[in-house]
Amino acid sequence: MPAASRPLLETYAPTDRTGAPVRQRRGASALEAGTLEADATTPGARRHGDTPGPDQQHDDARSQVTLLAGDAVATLARLALNERPRLVYMDPPFYTRRSFPLRERASDAAGRTIEAQRDAFDDRWPDGFDSYLAAMRDVLVACHECLAEDGSLLLHVDQRAAPYLAVEADRILGPGERLLDRDSPGYRSELIWSYGLGGSSSRTWPRKHDTILWYTRGRRWTFHPPMTAATSRRMQGQLKKQPDVLDIPSINNMAKERTGWPTQKPLALLELLVGAHSEPGDLIADPFAGSGTTGAAAVRLGRRAALGDVSDDALAMCRERLLRDEGVDRLAAHRLLQAAPVAPPAPDRLAFLAVGHVSGERFDATRWWGRHDAAAAWSVAPWLELPPRAGWMTAALARDVDGHEALLVMPDPT
Ligand SMILES: C[S@@+](CC[C@H](N)C(=O)[O-])C[C@H]1O[C@@H](n2cnc3c(N)ncnc32)[C@H](O)[C@@H]1O
Repeated sequence: MPAASRPLLETYAPTDRTGAPVRQRRGASALEAGTLEADATTPGARRHGDTPGPDQQHDDARSQVTLLAGDAVATLARLALNERPRLVYMDPPFYTRRSFPLRERASDAAGRTIEAQRDAFDDRWPDGFDSYLAAMRDVLVACHECLAEDGSLLLHVDQRAAPYLAVEADRILGPGERLLDRDSPGYRSELIWSYGLGGSSSRTWPRKHDTILWYTRGRRWTFHPPMTAATSRRMQGQLKKQPDVLDIPSINNMAKERTGWPTQKPLALLELLVGAHSEPGDLIADPFAGSGTTGAAAVRLGRRAALGDVSDDALAMCRERLLRDEGVDRLAAHRLLQAAPVAPPAPDRLAFLAVGHVSGERFDATRWWGRHDAAAAWSVAPWLELPPRAGWMTAALARDVDGHEALLVMPDPT
C-alpha cells in the first residue's frame, strides 16, 4: 500500500526509546480534539486534526503561547519553518536513570482527598549513555537550525551530562569564546544555578548546583546584564551586575508556584534568563517544557512562547497554568508528527523513497523513487526540488525491504 494513502498518525504513533507506544492518557490532554475549540478564552487555538495552513501560522504569531505536542526535535524543526526563536531554553532529562512520579490529589465519591501517583516522565536509558548522547545530539542540531541569526541557546543540565553535552554543543554550535575569539559563534559562558535546598552527604560534597550553558548562533546576540544588590561594604545599597553564579532557591513544597510536575524550575530563575537574553515581543522556545515555567516567565515579561513536550500530561499542566495563573488569552496548540530524524535504511535495503510535504497529520507525497534510483535520490537530497508549502514541512519517507519506515523532516527546504 502506498504510504501516502496510509493514516500517518497511526504509522508514526509516538514510541518511547524501547519502541513501545507512548501512553496517551485520554481526558488529560491539552490537545484532545474539541477541548481547545470549546474554550472561549483561546481564540488562537485550533482543534487538533485541523490541517495547518497559512492562517495557522498567523494564529501562532498572534498567540502569546503555542503548545506543541511532540518530540523536541519535531518542535524545533517546526519552529525553524514558522518563526525562529530569539531564545531557546531547554531543561531536558539529565540522565538520572530514574523515572519521575507525578503526585496528584483528587476527591473520592465521599469527598475524601486521595493521593495518586503515576509516572510523569522517564529518564531511564536501557541502551546506556551513548543513546542519551545520540538523542541530545539530534536535539542540538535541530536547535542550531532553528535559532534566529542573533538567537541564544540556554542548555540546562547537571554534573552528569554537562561535560559531554558541552563537547557536543561546541562541535555543533561552535566553541565560541571557549577556544576562539570573543565574537565567534557558539559557546559564550557557563552559568551556575546554586539552588541551596536539597539533601546532604557525608561521602561527598553535597550537590547544590546545576549548570546552564549559553551558546549563540551567530556573532551578534541580545544580552541585558541583570543587576543584583551589591554585597561589599564599599558598594552597600547599590546595584552591581549579576555574576555568573545565580543564587536562587529551588521551589519549596509549599510554594504557590509549585505545580506538582517533578523537576519544575523556579520562575525567578526563568525570569532572570528570559529577561537577560531576549527583548519584549520576542519568541521564546522550550522544547522540554514540563510544567511551562519558561512560558510563564515569557508571558510575565511580555514575550511570546512556544512550548513543546512529549507528555500530554505536561502540556495539560502548561495549558492550565498559563490560562489560569498567567492570564494568557491567546493559546494555540498543535500535535506534531513524531518526526525525530531516524536513520534511513542502507541503500541496498531501500525498497522505496518518497519525498513530499508533511503536516501535523498527513504526508502528501509528490515525488516517488523506485528502488533502483532511491539511494541516489537520497544522497542528492531530492526535497530541494520541492517548493515550500506554507504551514507544512518537507519530508522524505523511506521504507526498507522488511517494511520498516523512516520519516525524515527537513527543517529548511530552501
Ligand atoms: C526536566 S523536565 C522540564 C521541567 C521544566 N523546565 C519545568 O520547569 O517544569 C523535562 C521534560 O522533558 C520532557 N521530555 C522528555 N523527553 C522528551 C523529548 N524527547 N522531547 C520532548 N520532551 C521530552 C518530559 O516529559 C519532561 O516534561
